[in-house]
Amino acid sequence: MLKTLLAQVKEYKRDSILAPIFITLEVIMEIIIPVMMASIIDQGVEKGNIRHVCIMGACMIAVAMLSLTFGALSGKVAAKASTGFAKNIRNAMFTNIQNYSFSNIDKYSTAGLVTRLTTDVTNVQNAYQMIIRMCARAPFMLIFAMIMAFLINGKLALIFLGAIIFLGIILVLVVSNAHPIFIKVFRKYDDLNASVQENINAIRVVKAYVREDYEISKFQKACTNLYAMFVKAEKILICNTPAMQFAMYTCILLLSWLGAKMIVGGSLTTGQLMSLFSYVMNILMSLMMISMMFVMITMSRASGDRIAEVINEKSDLTNKENPIKEVKDGSIVFDHVSFAYKQHTEEEEEADVLRNINFQIESGQTVGIIGGTGSAKSSLVQLIPRLYDVTKGSVLVGGVDVREYEMEALRNEVAMVLQKNVLFSGTIKENLRWGNKEATDEEMIHACKLAQADDFIKQFPDGYDTFIEQGGNNVSGGQKQRLCIARALLKKPKILILDDSTSAVDTRTDAMIRKAFLEEIPSTTKLIIAQRISSVQDADLILVMNEGEVTDLGTHEELLSRCEIYRDVYESQTKGADQDGSK
Ligand SMILES: Nc1ncnc2c1ncn2[C@@H]1O[C@H](COP(=O)(O)OP(=O)(O)OP(=O)(O)O)[C@@H](O)[C@H]1O
Ligand SMILES: [Mg+2]
Repeated sequence: MLKTLLAQVKEYKRDSILAPIFITLEVIMEIIIPVMMASIIDQGVEKGNIRHVCIMGACMIAVAMLSLTFGALSGKVAAKASTGFAKNIRNAMFTNIQNYSFSNIDKYSTAGLVTRLTTDVTNVQNAYQMIIRMCARAPFMLIFAMIMAFLINGKLALIFLGAIIFLGIILVLVVSNAHPIFIKVFRKYDDLNASVQENINAIRVVKAYVREDYEISKFQKACTNLYAMFVKAEKILICNTPAMQFAMYTCILLLSWLGAKMIVGGSLTTGQLMSLFSYVMNILMSLMMISMMFVMITMSRASGDRIAEVINEKSDLTNKENPIKEVKDGSIVFDHVSFAYKQHTEEEEEADVLRNINFQIESGQTVGIIGGTGSAKSSLVQLIPRLYDVTKGSVLVGGVDVREYEMEALRNEVAMVLQKNVLFSGTIKENLRWGNKEATDEEMIHACKLAQADDFIKQFPDGYDTFIEQGGNNVSGGQKQRLCIARALLKKPKILILDDSTSAVDTRTDAMIRKAFLEEIPSTTKLIIAQRISSVQDADLILVMNEGEVTDLGTHEELLSRCEIYRDVYESQTKGADQDGSK
């Protein structure tokens, strides 16, 4: 985990190293000041040497200024290094997520990925900043102060040693108790984020079902839970403060008492006692910092793991060496294909979603796919543009196994309108250009005419420049589907797959789309998944799917005469139409 994260420091290495160096210089300055203080009192004040007081005073001001400058510089480079580090981590995560295959995406929840990209990165960023500033400061301060104390008076320095041991034990106890709670806190955080995201995404459904109160109480419960956890963790952390105070006052008491005795006995000067007091503060401060550092590391360790997981996730679809870049034609062959979605939880067995599929489609044919919900129609067509890899057998496009192609080349030739399709916020034109960056206005209008979208687009006041809201919320379901079809058409693909893409379009428009396809793009292989038999009955070939298998294939007439499932569906649909009086 550490290696993955540290690899992202990159161009901020210089700043990351400079920060502790500046800190060390700052600490050295801070350590010198008490020595000068002692000298002013012992050599200057007590002996009445005003000149010495002035010189030393001036030096002290200079050293203090230097210390301030180094402090400021270290703060600046540390901030730059840590924010830059966070930027690099986010970039690395996002870039890798773009490479994920569908099956990688199945593994992470959207909320999980967003939390990882935001909160988790912020945690690591804070911890990193703290570490590069404190890792030098606290130990240096501790060691220097101890050395100076021993140099001044070995016996009194033993008091400090006692305090350090006492506080060290407390620290270990606090951190080891707080760590497990923090891990839980961050898991709860995740749940909270997930619930917020789910709610906001589905806010319309929440409203439609009048579930606001339920959602509010669910959220409040998650918040209260988180609050309770945090309080518990903080309660443990807070034990640090009384222990610190106890150690500090004990040290001061002992120092005053033993120090006074020594001064009277002549083995210690007043100035030396003064600087020892400063060192007590330094030592205790650095112990405090070390404990804070441990807490920070504890808190960010879980986040670091979660980030590393995203960065290290390998896409399970890769291009072969020397992949083929040209798709010859739009023919499709399924040769003994079986397919299973990968299960990401260990216990579950992988069950085959598709079993032993065999069929051939010639270039330019129109093929309908019919089958009940869950009969794996979507799963079947997703194998053609290689959104998933087959488990057994092979899928050939243009006579070549899809795994032999360069993925980009293949997907440019196989346009797929996904069942769960989305439009992005932006104008209609911008959305259409997803299909083809260089599309001219004429090409766009032509594609929209084919998809029967031109008419309604022209009725919008802004026409093709109409702004589509996030998720396409300001167009109707059927309009959205037609825009998605137009977007796919702009690719001028050799194979066009429509996964239930006209389900929200009325039957007449649906028929017009199919007619336009037949006339305008005859050489494109068209795969149409539909619930309505009317959408596929003119097709050259119809596949009937049932529970992951192709039960039968043939033309409408052939299937009507021999396939029982097909006949049942057909009759139920036509009967329904009769009763509607529309036939
Ligand atoms: N991403 C996925 N991960 C795991 N299992 C999945 C995934 N997508 C679909 N499945 C499972 O695969 C089976 C077939 O689903 P598929 O979406 O292919 O059916 P479908 O025929 O397209 O249904 P519908 O007509 O409702 O769209 C279902 O049992 C479903 O639970
Ligand atoms: Mg489907």
